[in-house]
Amino acid sequence: MKTGFLEKLVAKLDRVDPAVVQSIVDRLLKEKGFFVQVFEALREGVILMGADGRVSFLNAAASRFFGLDVELSIDKKLAELVRGMDWQAMMEQGTVVSRDMEVFYPERRYLHFYLAPILDREVLSGFVMIVNDLTSDRAETQATIESERLGALTLLAAGVAHEIGNPLNSLGIHLQLLDRKIKRMVAGERQPLEEHLATARQEIQRLDSILKQFLQAIRPSTLRREKVQLSELCRDVLKLLEPELSERGIRVVLDLNTDIPLLDLDAVQMQQVFHNVLRNAAQAISTDADGCITVRMASNDFEVQVLISDNGVGISPEQMGTMFEPYRSTKEGGTGLGLLIVRRIIREHGGEMEIESREGSGTRVSLFLPLAVKKARLLPEPDAVIELPP
Ligand SMILES: Nc1ncnc2c1ncn2[C@@H]1O[C@H](COP(=O)(O)OP(=O)(O)O)[C@@H](O)[C@H]1O
Ligand SMILES: [Mg+2]
Repeated sequence: MKTGFLEKLVAKLDRVDPAVVQSIVDRLLKEKGFFVQVFEALREGVILMGADGRVSFLNAAASRFFGLDVELSIDKKLAELVRGMDWQAMMEQGTVVSRDMEVFYPERRYLHFYLAPILDREVLSGFVMIVNDLTSDRAETQATIESERLGALTLLAAGVAHEIGNPLNSLGIHLQLLDRKIKRMVAGERQPLEEHLATARQEIQRLDSILKQFLQAIRPSTLRREKVQLSELCRDVLKLLEPELSERGIRVVLDLNTDIPLLDLDAVQMQQVFHNVLRNAAQAISTDADGCITVRMASNDFEVQVLISDNGVGISPEQMGTMFEPYRSTKEGGTGLGLLIVRRIIREHGGEMEIESREGSGTRVSLFLPLAVKKARLLPEPDAVIELPP
């Protein structure tokens, strides 16, 4: 319907055939229905308000973002519906206001909105607010920052480790030379020196193995996938940890479902995952406690779940937020790199991990590994498409 047509119609309303008015009203209603459908189909939230700031329309996306019931929201002021922002002040500015905001209900979202006054022949007739959901963009940015941070860290650490490797090597060679010289000495003088030498050699070996492990852990690597039976891999790692576990008197309960399908995994890296998680669990249990670690595996059509629980000290809520940051360790001699590496490896396998914990009673780490190698991440299903009338 052309602009100005309605004004002309209203001016001549008393002279127009009622049947014509009827058909025009019908068309208007149809047009309104069409616009409402368009608004409802939008991914963006749309809220329309009158000049007094009372809501006259909100679409499905807006009601979802803010957890609002459409019927109950009509005629309410925006300030009553969405708290925590000074809507009044923004409306009084008389210009378009563009802002980011965070909402916690019905779920945590980062939203961007702009609020614009609607003018009808220079007179304020209301406001329109358009809202975009930035939650997933933000999560992506966060993930990029994290992986860049990890990348920089890896490079630095690898550099340092490499630099330590050279003097360590030469120390080893000098000890060998020393050993040869000592061998030529008389027995009485030789013995105490040989003891010192043996200790020095042991310590160098220990440093060397720490260094090797460290380099292996942080080396950015491409996955070397092979068919792996996870339950066997887990048993192997537990065998390696056996001395530490029995020293602490920790019981291990295994519920390794035998029908877990073979997975295409990098076995070495996945061993590192189990090693780190199981060791964290063991270290969380104090030696005098009746410690227990449970490993459960289950699978469904699309993924394998590995649940590793301990009844250790647990993790405080504050610690939970920083646990994945490099060098964050609550342990003497801890590197604070374990969880970071675990998560990187799991993610490189297309999986995810989750940690739940209750302070004082224990922690559960869940690893989710997809059954099929994901070539690309699927985009989430688009919202339902509404068929528009022709
Ligand atoms: N199972 C667990 N129980 C309690 N705390 C844990 C557990 N796993 C990890 N943590 C906490 O997370 C921190 C980081 O772990 P990690 O990255 O493996 O480094 P590290 O083991 O060298 O400290 C640990 O210092 C510990 O405080
Ligand atoms: Mg650790």
